[in-house]
Amino acid sequence: MPKSYVSSRSRFASSPIALVHKAAEELIRKNVNIVKFDSGDPAVYFRTPKYIIDAYVAALRSGKTYYSRAEGVRELVDAVAARYRRMYGLQASSGDVVVTEGLSEAFTFINNALADPGDRGILFRPYYAPYSVYANLNSVDPLYGDYSESEGWSIDLESLRRSLKRLSPSQKRRIKYMLLTNPNNPTGTVLDRKVLREVVDIASQNDIFLISDEIYDELVFGKRFTSIAEVAKGVPYSIMNGASKDFDATGFRVGFIITPGNDRRSEQVRSAFSDYAVERLCANTPAQYAVAEGISNLKEHSRSIEKMRSAIESRVKFASKMLSENRYLNVIEPHGAFYVFPRIDLKALHMKSDDEFVFSALKEKHVQIRSGTAFGSPSHFRMVALAPKDILEDGINRINDFCRKHARTGP
Ligand SMILES: Cc1ncc(COP(=O)(O)O)c(C=O)c1O
Repeated sequence: MPKSYVSSRSRFASSPIALVHKAAEELIRKNVNIVKFDSGDPAVYFRTPKYIIDAYVAALRSGKTYYSRAEGVRELVDAVAARYRRMYGLQASSGDVVVTEGLSEAFTFINNALADPGDRGILFRPYYAPYSVYANLNSVDPLYGDYSESEGWSIDLESLRRSLKRLSPSQKRRIKYMLLTNPNNPTGTVLDRKVLREVVDIASQNDIFLISDEIYDELVFGKRFTSIAEVAKGVPYSIMNGASKDFDATGFRVGFIITPGNDRRSEQVRSAFSDYAVERLCANTPAQYAVAEGISNLKEHSRSIEKMRSAIESRVKFASKMLSENRYLNVIEPHGAFYVFPRIDLKALHMKSDDEFVFSALKEKHVQIRSGTAFGSPSHFRMVALAPKDILEDGINRINDFCRKHARTGP
């Protein structure tokens, strides 16, 4: 056998999404018009607000192109701490904040800082796919809990309690974190305060560090969003957030982690995050200044977020309603983010899997969506509902035609 230059753990980085992506690229090369509902990038559909672009250009023009402070420029860490004081009454200080290259960089910080190989992290299915990838890449073994579809995709607290109860004390010691995504990608669920309180209790009773990805916290519809900061008082936790969604600046690659506890263990976690930040030098410097302005200029931000939020709400509701008229799909209405995650009646469509559904929809109807399997929940698909309504309508008509045809024709 020849020596391989690629590590064995690299297998965790390859996903079914890449295969669909490749097939779509091939069709595009043949000039096929693909309706793309696969990528959750608001900046493709909404221009990044001008005041943020202006701040980026000003930072570039004034020479802010050097390595910044590793944990983030003062203006940004101050702005982030002030945002959490203002929005959630959190007594955060700038020292609690570490800026990352997009929230995504926090995945490596978390797994490196909190877990040794063989340790475990609790993820809830369906999860944002890279969480499981990064855990595996760091030899952290995910322990899966579930969002319960029959409870509107809220957390299945009973089964979480049961699976923790089954573990021996030494197995429990190896669980280093529990990670929530709220509002959720791919389901659009916004967790109720009561559920969050119970999650905090479970984390505290089992001595597990809590992490909450709240990157869609200002993209919530008809419901009040509760941050973990409002309920996790006295329990150690980190919140992750960033510029990609609320500030419509995905390509800036700016995110942040806030770890506000005053206890010794929170201090240790904060200091480890800082150490990792120092090792990779810094996040994009001019973009950090732009995001600082994005957060601090409340007048401009409230205007732009409200415009984008209400457009997204109306698109998500439109998509969700159209899909729910399809008798082969079961749709739970999302209350945040910009995704719809229907369950597919595979049997009625004579199909074996959601992957088959996604590949066939691409080949036959030229619609690109993602399989639920990619999020740890088979028999579903995720569509991104950011496109204007005429495009949503065209794409969903294709999906609905596709389902009708397969229900008729059989295997
Ligand atoms: C739940 C969630 N977290 C994190 C990210 C990535 O964030 P960033 O662009 O800041 O790396 C996404 C992107 O879709 C997401 O849906």
